[in-house]
Amino acid sequence: MHPKNFIRCLFILLVIVVTLTGPIPPTQSQRANNIEQRINLLLRKMTLAEKLGQLQQLDGEANGNARPEHLEMVRKGLLGSTLNVRGAARTNQLQRIAVNESRLKIPMIFGFDVIHGYRTVFPIPLGEAASWDPVGVERAAAIAAREARAAGVHWTFAPMVDIARDPRWGRIAEGSGEDPYLGAVMARARVRGFQGNDYSASDRVVATAKHWVAYGAAEAGRDYNTTDISERTLREIYFPPFKAAVDAGVGTFMSAFNDLNGVPASANPYTLTTVLRGEWKFDGFVVSDYTSVEELINHGVAANGKDAAREAINAGVDMEMVSRLYNKHGADLLTQRQVSLNTIDEAVRRILRIKFRLGLFDKPYADETRESAAIFSSANVAAARELGARSIVLLKNDKQLLPLAKNLKSIAVIGALADSQKDMIGSWTGDGRSEDAVTLLQGIKAKSPQTRINYVKGCDIECPDAVGLEEAIAAARESDVAIIVVGESAEMSGEASSRNSLDVPGRQLDLVKAIQASGKPVVVVLMNGRPLSISWVADNVPAILETWFAGSQAGNAIADVLFGDVNPGGKLPVTFPRSVGQVPIYYNHMNTGRPPDEKNKYTSKYLDVSWTPQFPFGYGLSYTQFKITNLQLSAQKIRPQGSVKVSVEVENVGKRAGDEVVQLYIRDQTASVTRPVKELKGFQRVTLQPGEKRRVEFTLGPKELGLYNRTMNFIVEPGEFKIMAGSNSEDLIETKLEVY
Ligand code: NOJ
Repeated sequence: MHPKNFIRCLFILLVIVVTLTGPIPPTQSQRANNIEQRINLLLRKMTLAEKLGQLQQLDGEANGNARPEHLEMVRKGLLGSTLNVRGAARTNQLQRIAVNESRLKIPMIFGFDVIHGYRTVFPIPLGEAASWDPVGVERAAAIAAREARAAGVHWTFAPMVDIARDPRWGRIAEGSGEDPYLGAVMARARVRGFQGNDYSASDRVVATAKHWVAYGAAEAGRDYNTTDISERTLREIYFPPFKAAVDAGVGTFMSAFNDLNGVPASANPYTLTTVLRGEWKFDGFVVSDYTSVEELINHGVAANGKDAAREAINAGVDMEMVSRLYNKHGADLLTQRQVSLNTIDEAVRRILRIKFRLGLFDKPYADETRESAAIFSSANVAAARELGARSIVLLKNDKQLLPLAKNLKSIAVIGALADSQKDMIGSWTGDGRSEDAVTLLQGIKAKSPQTRINYVKGCDIECPDAVGLEEAIAAARESDVAIIVVGESAEMSGEASSRNSLDVPGRQLDLVKAIQASGKPVVVVLMNGRPLSISWVADNVPAILETWFAGSQAGNAIADVLFGDVNPGGKLPVTFPRSVGQVPIYYNHMNTGRPPDEKNKYTSKYLDVSWTPQFPFGYGLSYTQFKITNLQLSAQKIRPQGSVKVSVEVENVGKRAGDEVVQLYIRDQTASVTRPVKELKGFQRVTLQPGEKRRVEFTLGPKELGLYNRTMNFIVEPGEFKIMAGSNSEDLIETKLEVY
C-alpha cells in the first residue's frame, strides 16, 4: 500500500473508533489543569467582596430552611456556603439564586453534619468502630452519602477522627476510640464511603476530617478545653487518622476549637500549613469550626475581630463558619497589608477547587424526583440492622446464658432505655427521626412473638429515686429471665456533654442490684456513648452486652444478638476503666521505670483500685470459642528497611459459626525513646464455621516498626521487637523479631 493511502486508512480507522467509543475522557491531570484554569478565570473576574463571600459559611435554620436574610447575600455573591440547609427543594431554591442571579454564577456548597447516617441512622461512630469491620463502616458511610446527596447536601462534617483517651469527654461517642491504628483504618473507610472515587457522583459527598487537631485530648475531659501535647504524641497518636484521611483523598479539614501547646488550633500555622499543606500536600480547604475564628478573642490571642481574622486566615483557615470576621475586616486587612491578596486568593482557590471537584459548576442541583426513593430505603434500613448487630460487644456470658431461646414462656424487660426511640439513635443524628427507630422492647417482641413480655419502665434514666423498683422486681420474679437495659440517654454524650462520673446515671444500678437479688437469670444490656465504670455489674451479673446507641434498627439488631440469630463479634475500641479515677487509661501506655507489681508498693499503681482495666481494648466474647495459635514470621531477622510477613492460625473450637477479630500487636523492646508496651498494627475480622481453621496474614514493615527518635526523625531502630497476636490486647501469644 502506498504510504499516503496507509495514513488515510489509519485516519479513517481512528475516526471510526472515536465515533464508536465516544471522545477519549480527559486524564486526571488534564481534569486538574482544567479546574485550575477555570479557577484562574474566575479569580480574575472576582471582586474582593465576592472573594470574601466564598470564604463565608453561614448557618441555616435548624429545620433545614435557608434564612431569609441570606438570600440577598447569595444574590450578590457574598455567601459561598451554608450549613444545615438541606432537602432537595430547599437547597435547589438557594442554589438557583446563586447560579442564576449572582454575577459570576458560582454555586453554593451545602454542608451538614452527616455523622452516622443521614435519615437511616447507623450506630454511633464509636459503635461502628467496635465492629472492627471497615467494609461495613465504609458501606454505612456510602449509604449516608447517598441519602445526603439526594437531599441536596454536598459536604459532610465527618468523619470525626479525634483520638480520645478520656471517656469523660462526651465526643468520644463520635470517634473511633483510643487507638491510632484502628482510628486510621476507620478514617479511611469513612472517607472512602462518603466520597467514593469521585465525589462529583450523584450519590457521594465530600468529607471533612475533624477536628484538626488534638480536640479529643481536652484536659479533664471537659469539652473545648485546653490541650498540651508533645510533638511525638501528636505525630504518633493524634495525627495518624488525619493522615489516613488525607491519603484517602479527603476534600476538607475542620480546624478545632481547642488550643494546642499555647496556640489555638484555628490559628495554628504549624498544624494548618506546615504539616497539613507542607508535609502532607493536602490541597483541599480548611473550614473553621463553628465561630472558632471569633473565639480566638476568648483564647486571648486576638484583641478584636480584626486580629482574629488575620490570625486565622494567615494560619491557613480558608472558610469561616458562622462568625463573619473575614468579611468584615478582609478589606482593611488587605489595605493595611496584614493579609496578602495571595493568601485570600489561595483560600478562594481551594474552596473553588472542591466545588469543581464536586461537579457543582456543571450539575448544581439535586434531583428532586430521586430524593424520597433514595432515603430510608428498605436496603438502607437492612444495612443499618446488620452493622448495628456487628457493632455489639459481648462483655460477659457466664454459663452461656446467652443466646436466649426463642420459646421462653416469659421475659421481663426492664428500664426506660428499653423502649425509648429517641435514645436508640444517639447524638448527631442528621435528619434521623426517633419515630423511625426500633426500640429493644419492639425488637424482642418481634423476635419472640409467643413469649409473654413483662415490660417495666421503672424510673427515667436519670432517676433520682427508686420509682418502679417494686414493680420491676415483681416482673422479674414472674419471668424466666430478666433483661435490664441501663446506661445513658443519647444527650449524655456528644458535643458539650462531658461527664465527671462514668457510673451508670441515677439509681439504675440499684435497679440492677435489686433484680439480680431476685435470683432470676439477668442480662444487662448497656446503651451508652462512652465507656462506663460498671464494676459491680461486671462482677455480679452473668451476661452483659454493650450495644452503644445502635441506630434506627437498634432494637432489631440487639434482639438478633440476644436470641442468637447473630453471633456477636464486636470488640471494644476503647478501654473500659474500673473507675473514673483511672482515666486516662489506655492499652498503648509506656512501661514506666516502675511498672506495676502487686508485691512492690513502690511501683506505678493505686492504693484503692487495681491499675488494670475492667475490660481491655480489643476485648469482646462470642457465643462460640476461638483458639489463636501458631504465630509465625516469614523471617526471624530483617533489615530496618525490610518487611516481614506475620501469620497466625485461628480456629473456631466451639459449636456455632462466629466471628473473631484477630489482632496483631508489636512492642519495640529497647529504643532510643520510650515505647508503648503494645501497639496495634493489624487486625482482621474473620467468620469461621465450627471446626474451621484459618491462617491470617499481616505484613510489618518500616511504617509499622518505625518511631520518631530523639531528633523527631521517623526511623526503624535496630533491636528486638515483640510480636503478639490474639483476640484482645491482653490475651496474646508472642514471638520475637530482630531488626539488624
Ligand atoms: C460544632 C462541632 O464541633 C462540629 O463538629 C460541627 O461539625 C459543627 N459544630 C457544625 O455543626
